[in-house]
Amino acid sequence: MGQTSIKSVGILCSGGDSPGMNCAIRAIVRTAIGLGLNAFGIQRGYQGLIDNQIRPLDVSSVGNIIQRGGTILQTSRSKDFMTAEGRAKAAANLREHNIDSLIVIGGNGSFKGAMKFYEEHGIPIAGIPGTIDNDISGTEYTIGFDTAVQVAIEAVDRIRDTASSHDRTFLVEVMGRNSPAIAVHVAVCTGAENIVFSKQEIQYEKIAEHIKRGMARGKNSSIIIVTEGDKPGLAYQVQTTLQQAFKIDAHVCILGHIQRGGAPSHMDRFIASRMGYLAVKSLLDGNFPLVTVYRDGHVTTAPFIECVQDKLGFDKTELELVRLLSI
Ligand code: F6P
Repeated sequence: MGQTSIKSVGILCSGGDSPGMNCAIRAIVRTAIGLGLNAFGIQRGYQGLIDNQIRPLDVSSVGNIIQRGGTILQTSRSKDFMTAEGRAKAAANLREHNIDSLIVIGGNGSFKGAMKFYEEHGIPIAGIPGTIDNDISGTEYTIGFDTAVQVAIEAVDRIRDTASSHDRTFLVEVMGRNSPAIAVHVAVCTGAENIVFSKQEIQYEKIAEHIKRGMARGKNSSIIIVTEGDKPGLAYQVQTTLQQAFKIDAHVCILGHIQRGGAPSHMDRFIASRMGYLAVKSLLDGNFPLVTVYRDGHVTTAPFIECVQDKLGFDKTELELVRLLSI
């Protein structure tokens, strides 16, 4: 497709916030204004679009935010946008403000909504993958993952200090819903003894045997990383079974939302900035609907349809890696 007549871009964040969203917002606003477009911020995601919470953004409005976690536009999980009426209201509000393109920063649920919105209302649209879970198909990376993993690693390192001082076993539950990505990276990088995945049968015998073997050879702590699943608390279930079936006492620590906050890492700032820039350029080139993706070390674009599936599988060798390295 060739050049378009796009004159303005609306920006919103949707789903859980992630460190680096502000970097993407800044890159979009400054690229858009630098290329002669108007930029508008939509507050509180799709819900704010429906409720007409829209304001113009200038270059100063995104000053001093590159290092800030969260999102200055705030975010939401909107039920109303799942309805055709909600989406029609959203489209009408964009027209009222003369906004003729939209960039959505969020996860695959947000992208599904964006795709429907494009099909129904034909508004040029781009997606930027922003979620700590790194669970979107079609891209090897989502903004926020690196920072969240680093936060969790630092927490587990601290837990290791106290665990080894008391000869304890800890179950540390990380975010990621059903995605194994955070758990695998945290486990490998903290020398954890095991991982429990919410979507896999839990191999209690192997976990217990591993802990007991470690203790027998003089280890003074064990750490098991647990993925939270649909809601937090799986670690408590594992704790009960380890105690009742194997007489192993384990402490539970649920890291929770601490993993979603804080200053974005170098990687999140860099990729978010590249994606924000590319999203605007691609809209202007008429290359929509599109998602900016990270593949083979490069930021590039892909059709929406490639980026709306969950990426939940994990490489079994990673589990072996965790177990072997913590023998
Ligand atoms: O999708 C990001 C995420 O942080 C998941 O890892 C987690 O399961 C979920 O959001 C928590 O959502 P909420 O903040 O709405 O409780």
